[in-house]
Amino acid sequence: MSGNPFFPLDEMSAESNNTEMMIFPQVDRAIYDQRKRVAGTVIDYKEMRMRYSCAIKEVRTKFDVLNSEFNVRYRRNPITSISSRLKSSSSIMNKLARKGLDFTLENVENNLYDVAGIRVVCSYVDDIYVLAQALAKQDDITVIKEKDYIKNPKPNGYRSYHMIVSVPVFFSDQTKDMAVEVQIRTIAMDFWASLEHQLKYKQDVPNQREIVEQLTDCAERIAAVDEQMRQVRAKIELSEDMPTEEEILMEKLSRIDIAINE
Ligand code: GTP
Ligand code: MG
Repeated sequence: MSGNPFFPLDEMSAESNNTEMMIFPQVDRAIYDQRKRVAGTVIDYKEMRMRYSCAIKEVRTKFDVLNSEFNVRYRRNPITSISSRLKSSSSIMNKLARKGLDFTLENVENNLYDVAGIRVVCSYVDDIYVLAQALAKQDDITVIKEKDYIKNPKPNGYRSYHMIVSVPVFFSDQTKDMAVEVQIRTIAMDFWASLEHQLKYKQDVPNQREIVEQLTDCAERIAAVDEQMRQVRAKIELSEDMPTEEEILMEKLSRIDIAINE
């Protein structure tokens, strides 16, 4: 038997149009065809969202793995939190409209790279680059675009490391390369970006210019704190006696039964 064993209904529906017509006995052919088209589009759209949501899981797992590996090897977690979001349908519609494009699945897949989004928050700036490189060099990851808003902050002071990556996702009947937007930033950068994002929507506040200037000033000071924290950590690490190979082995053995994830 040919066809997809997971979706035997596909074959049944191909069998007879008359059987399908029985679902809408009193509508004429044209209306029936139109309903079928609309229903098909809605289902295809839902499936596309499911594919993006699976792509998020794939990339999230990659960061979880890196965090666990760091934890076992170096006794520290570079990642403090990971969050993700699937772009809402209204945002998708608005973004396509801004680009002058119709709302079709092809236009979404070929023109929007931030339908699936992951945000990774780290303690230290150096961890951002370690994680970005570790992700980029994985065999199944293709980096489509990178923007380093840490080395080149936006004029308002926004800092973060952005990547658009493509990851293959394996489904029952196909493998799809899906785009995922990854934002990597420190806790301090995240703190600033969340507040700035909230304030951006409060357009009716007086002294708008002054507020923007103050926010930019905050971003500069936050960046200075991040740099200071990095230097503190570097000093601590330098002052620590390098453990011998035997000490490292004993330490790893003593931790062998501890839960791997945390
Ligand atoms: P979009 O069309 O908005 O996705 O922008 P883009 O394609 O030019 O990408 P960019 O890398 O500039 O920004 C993508 C995302 O980064 C945004 O959707 C925000 O989540 C975040 N971002 C970028 N700039 C800012 C900013 O000034 N403030 C805050 N809070 N977030 C920002
Ligand atoms: Mg965006």
